[in-house]
Amino acid sequence: MKDCPEREKALALLRKYNGEPFHIQHGLTVEGVMRWYAGELGYGEDADFWATVGLLHDVDFEKWPEAHCKKAPELLREIGCSDDLVHAVCSHGYGICCDVEPVEEMEKVLFAADELTGLIGAAARMRPSKSCQDMELSSLKKKFKDKKFAAGCSRDIIRTGAERLGWELDELLNKTLEAMKACEDAVNAGMAEL
Ligand SMILES: [Fe+2]
Repeated sequence: MKDCPEREKALALLRKYNGEPFHIQHGLTVEGVMRWYAGELGYGEDADFWATVGLLHDVDFEKWPEAHCKKAPELLREIGCSDDLVHAVCSHGYGICCDVEPVEEMEKVLFAADELTGLIGAAARMRPSKSCQDMELSSLKKKFKDKKFAAGCSRDIIRTGAERLGWELDELLNKTLEAMKACEDAVNAGMAEL
């Protein structure tokens, strides 16, 4: 079982360096998505580790956007994060802002799902329900193809992420949508507690 800090400490670290609710919400979302993937892919024993990586993956982004994934190790050491955890966090910027390559399956999932949660979240906000619960894969695929929609979410990164996992794009979209449905209530509850 991989070592990781207590959730309370991890959340406190995220909040220490992130004032924007959007960034906290993104951290909580990727936390929930990574926890779901750990169970789905047979890594249930390390679900806390996967979730913590998700929660903290962007810890340095709000305050040090120019040093994203480079400042993170120093911040993560504050709460005693392991080398494995630091590597995983940094690897999600591979080829974008750092040269730490995703090696573990968990790291490849983080790279692929991180960008995609932004697209799914934007699509959910457009719906009358403001939720992804009633979103179907076909509707997400349309949003993916519409380059003008949520243009800041890089389709290339998402495609590259699927390729590195050896998955069809549809598989990545479908699984990540399911993951977001599964954790939506917990994310909303977490935001309400702030
Ligand atoms: Fe992110």
